[in-house]
Amino acid sequence: MTVRQKNRGAAAVLAGVGAYVPPKTVTNADLSAHLDTSPDWITSRTGIEERHVVSAGESSVDLAVEAGNRALKSAGTGTVDMVVLATTSPDRLCPAGAPEVAHRLGLGIVPAFDLTSACSGFLFGLATAQGLIASETAESVLLVGAEAFTTFVDPADRGTAVIFGDGAGAVVLRAGSTDEPGAIGPVSLGTDGSHADLLHIPSGGSRQRSATGLGHGLDVSSWYLQMAGRTLFQQAVARMTEASRSALEQAGWPVATVDRFVGHQANLRILTAVAKRLEIPAERLFVNIDRVGNTLAASIPLALTAAASGGELTSGDRVLLSAFGAGLSWGGTTLVWPDLVTDAPL
Ligand code: COA
Repeated sequence: MTVRQKNRGAAAVLAGVGAYVPPKTVTNADLSAHLDTSPDWITSRTGIEERHVVSAGESSVDLAVEAGNRALKSAGTGTVDMVVLATTSPDRLCPAGAPEVAHRLGLGIVPAFDLTSACSGFLFGLATAQGLIASETAESVLLVGAEAFTTFVDPADRGTAVIFGDGAGAVVLRAGSTDEPGAIGPVSLGTDGSHADLLHIPSGGSRQRSATGLGHGLDVSSWYLQMAGRTLFQQAVARMTEASRSALEQAGWPVATVDRFVGHQANLRILTAVAKRLEIPAERLFVNIDRVGNTLAASIPLALTAAASGGELTSGDRVLLSAFGAGLSWGGTTLVWPDLVTDAPL
């Protein structure tokens, strides 16, 4: 299948998926060896058994290139018009990582930019790609969610070190029509900046650099993620439920017609609480947090690729996507799963 077809249309249609996780794994037992926690606590409170983490020198762009390459192969193409990289753990504050991803994938001098919306980044990326395609700015977009976020997590903080993992997922979107399989439905998005401090990295940006930066009494912990877990949990359940309902309503889908709910893998208890509120049976919920942890913007494309390659998502399935993250930010959308070529299971 080529994504450079001349069939321009209003919809962004899924043409390929791919994912990559770094080879190094960290189990709950590994973490329990140096943190005041236990494998039982981590599994029962989060659903996570292990996560993949980058090795020294390995970065979000490295992961993005691997996932992007697989998505291009899945789409059967070597070219796209634009590259969007959703990440909260950029290689550098400047420049954006997307141009390097495009370069390393041999995509040439295409427009490429980063998008930051934490764990909702993939949903904001889908809406962005949809707009680029609908406005005929691009006929095809490579959208990658890639995170080496464990590099921003304090390894000594048991409240956050047990949750996050690294990885990347990517999709190729092409211009098409709204009624064909793979067409991304209306994307429902929202943010609430009044809760920005619930999940944040205080230093590294302009506020701390100008006021209390290095050499001015900066506490090193402010370079790491700080998270109000319990409050976020409640917000995540409420907002993911709201985003899901809104996306279903905009698509005109009764909830009973959803075959697969692929939500942001933040915490198994969050996912099951959202599914319960939506009255989606537990067996329709896709779960891979046990193997990868919370991978922020990579979470949903990683889950989609894992579900499709593992046979848990097949052509014709009606899929609901929903995410929540720092910002606060949230989003949801729908699609009918198309007939795609996928890699062997991760
Ligand atoms: N091991 C053992 N105990 C731990 C622990 C760990 N790794 N982390 C926290 N605790 C302790 C706390 O200190 C607290 O102890 P206390 O009762 O003596 O004060 C107790 O466990 C309960 O803490 P709480 O934060 O209420 O636990 P929880 O059941 O809410 O689970 C999270 C904590 C972080 C797993 C959960 O709140 C969560 O997943 N929140 C959402 C996080 C998230 O999704 N972030 C990204 C947004 S996309």
